[in-house]
Amino acid sequence: MKFGYFDDANREYVITTPRTPLPWINYLGCNEFFSLISNTCGGYSFYKDAKLLRLTRYRYNDMPLDCNGKYFYIKEGDTLWNPGWKPTQTELDSYECRHGIGYSKFSGSKNGLKADILSFVPLKDTCEISRLTLTNESGADKTFSVFSYVEWCLWNADDDMKNFQRNFSTGEVEVVGSTIYHKTEYRERRNHYAIYSVNAPITAFDTSRDAFIGAYHSPANPEAVLAGKLTGSIASGWSPVAAHQLDVTLKAGESKDFIFVLGYVENPEDEKWESHQVINKTRAIALLAKYDTDAKVDAAFAELKEYWNGLLSKYTVESSNDKVNRMVNIWNQYQCMVTFNMSRSASYYESGIGRGMGFRDSCQDLLGFVHLIPDRARERIIDIASTQFQDGSAYHQYQPLTKKGNSDIGSGFNDDPLWLIAGTSAYIRETGDMTILDEMVPFDNDESVAQPLMEHLKRSFDYIVNHKGPHKLPLIGRADWNDCLNLNCHSTQPGESFQTFGPSEGPVAESVFIGGMFVKYGLEYAELCDLQGKDQEAARARAEVEEMRKVLLSDAGWDGDWFVRAYDSYGNKVGGKECEEGQIYIEPQGFCVLAGVGVETGQAQKALDSVKERLDTQYGIMILQPAYTVYHEELGEVSSYPPGYKENAGIFCHNNPWVSIAETVIGRGDRAFEVYRKTCPAYTEEISEIHRTEPYIYCQMVAGRDAKFHGEGKNSWLTGTAAWTFVNISQYILGVYPTHQGLSVDPCVPSDFGDFKVTRKFREGTYHISIRKADGIQKGVKELVVDGQKVDGHIIPYVKGKTEYQVEVVMG
Ligand code: BGC
Ligand code: NOJ
Repeated sequence: MKFGYFDDANREYVITTPRTPLPWINYLGCNEFFSLISNTCGGYSFYKDAKLLRLTRYRYNDMPLDCNGKYFYIKEGDTLWNPGWKPTQTELDSYECRHGIGYSKFSGSKNGLKADILSFVPLKDTCEISRLTLTNESGADKTFSVFSYVEWCLWNADDDMKNFQRNFSTGEVEVVGSTIYHKTEYRERRNHYAIYSVNAPITAFDTSRDAFIGAYHSPANPEAVLAGKLTGSIASGWSPVAAHQLDVTLKAGESKDFIFVLGYVENPEDEKWESHQVINKTRAIALLAKYDTDAKVDAAFAELKEYWNGLLSKYTVESSNDKVNRMVNIWNQYQCMVTFNMSRSASYYESGIGRGMGFRDSCQDLLGFVHLIPDRARERIIDIASTQFQDGSAYHQYQPLTKKGNSDIGSGFNDDPLWLIAGTSAYIRETGDMTILDEMVPFDNDESVAQPLMEHLKRSFDYIVNHKGPHKLPLIGRADWNDCLNLNCHSTQPGESFQTFGPSEGPVAESVFIGGMFVKYGLEYAELCDLQGKDQEAARARAEVEEMRKVLLSDAGWDGDWFVRAYDSYGNKVGGKECEEGQIYIEPQGFCVLAGVGVETGQAQKALDSVKERLDTQYGIMILQPAYTVYHEELGEVSSYPPGYKENAGIFCHNNPWVSIAETVIGRGDRAFEVYRKTCPAYTEEISEIHRTEPYIYCQMVAGRDAKFHGEGKNSWLTGTAAWTFVNISQYILGVYPTHQGLSVDPCVPSDFGDFKVTRKFREGTYHISIRKADGIQKGVKELVVDGQKVDGHIIPYVKGKTEYQVEVVMG
């Protein structure tokens, strides 16, 4: 069952009922100012950092209630309604929400009055615009009132929801004309305030929540709105809000626009005040003047659209499969950009006050956006590498504002170092920019010990070489990609953090998965050594990789029908037939095979067959089987979840693409696509009542077969799934993969996929690639013709400065 439909021409998902299974949100903002916005106008806004500079307040532990947002109320006689249905939930005559690329549109109507809202964050300013268009569609004149409402957050969102003994006394505002200024803490150490304004004279306003909502009322029935008249309250402590009242008369057929601007304004220290206790409003007034007419708003909106047109033109596909086209050309790349902006900080599942930027998460996200914004990817790589330690290990997380590592979580996640090689290699393959390897990059942010980035990669590589266990497999440390495989933790007390309790390292617990990563990214490291003319180092790296490959394929890494997952701190197998629970895990099957391990010996195929036999479901591949039914102190968080959820046998959308990529490595296009399809939003849209999260983007986890709600998604938006599914579909299934020598075209598609075209902007060139194939063919390039010239192999040689390439590929 669906709750809307895709409008591909406009790049929008159109939600046709406000009663979606869960709030379905969108993100506004590309640079510094961001908003989360749900299909019923819930959400909040922040500047740069969702924890430290939060503009509007959101209520926690609130899925699916979704309380607080940027609301407009319309009161006509005794009828009170909202264009986005909430918070009054008055039945609407019509409702529509269009989530687009960096904007959302809402349309609601009641009794012949229509209200349209366009919300977006202009590219170059720190504000959100909501243009409210009211149209009288009835045959008679109408008189009614419109009320706006936001609740301010007192900046630090963490403190804001805890420190009431102070916060109930700090709130301050000023009101001038139609602009409400929120200036809490501006009198002391802040140099910024927030504004909420409308480009028309107002009848009245409120800035105190108690005056607007009334004690024991709620946003669903605000007292002042019910009374039809805001009170002009000036907040002093308690909860400052911003509410405007506009009294409107529309003739039959008439339409009127109001432009609301929610903004963030910063003043230099010596220009903070206009007079004693009166804030300097010059910059606010200038900001508002930029968006005070329809024409200006239209221009800013057009500019935003142009920006996205540019980004989304870098990789496009035209195939006979609309769902693939839609995901590749629009939504998957859009989600990759959102993960770039948000990392794992702010969504409806990440509170914005918790995690900063993850080392491994940020490196993996980069794989999905490096082709879109290579310059910012470069900056990101340097930021990440700056938090590495001298021995090659890394802070697991860092704070976006300070860019410093978080010492409360520290290091010891032994897959982290290799992801830096993954990200850097992807960046250089994309751009050809080898100079990044010479950049001097500090360790642990200490400039005095800076080394070239290439040296950081060497230390990443050597960290694995120098940290091996009894089977010559990499030591796991606190955990590897699977944050819940805490083999050295041994926690028995509630509340202890699985990620930080116990020693960060143990001499026994090993990870086969990191072994697979080492083969994949060890070889990418060796390639970088080749390019730098470091032949000896390249040979050393390859020899180390071959050692690891042998171990993986030996009894230490191979359980007979699949790859072992790990060894616990007692040296017992995790993910082997001898285990009662957790006999087989997805991660090493996907990663070892995508790294090419076991392809020649047949073990690769066997491992993937075992995945299909033991882990597959109609909704995707589970992370492990059988699920853990009891808590295993020697395994940690993985066994803490009820069976079927999260890392305990949930379907992790993040590593399904690893299996799909692995299938392309052994040439099984039908199966690769089947795996792709099962978690693909454009397909799961059809079962939205089961899947429940947004049908236009990926979620992190779908409940596995053991769970009560098998097939239900959770944790939408901020997941490495976005990057990996895009890598999978664009580079492996459709097969256009950037190499150091040029673009490689080597698709692996379903037998009946038909011919297709890819347009790819790569370095200075635009590649128009047309791929033909006979039915039944899944992989193989029979012929590659570049600008009329036959080329051997499947790599289009890169020609510096050349801007257009016509490429014909025949598969077979
Ligand atoms: C979750 C993991 C996540 C980790 C982050 C755990 O509770 O299950 O998915 O990676 O927290 O710290
Ligand atoms: C989510 C975390 O953000 C990511 O780093 C981790 O790899 C997965 N969960 C799996 O545990």
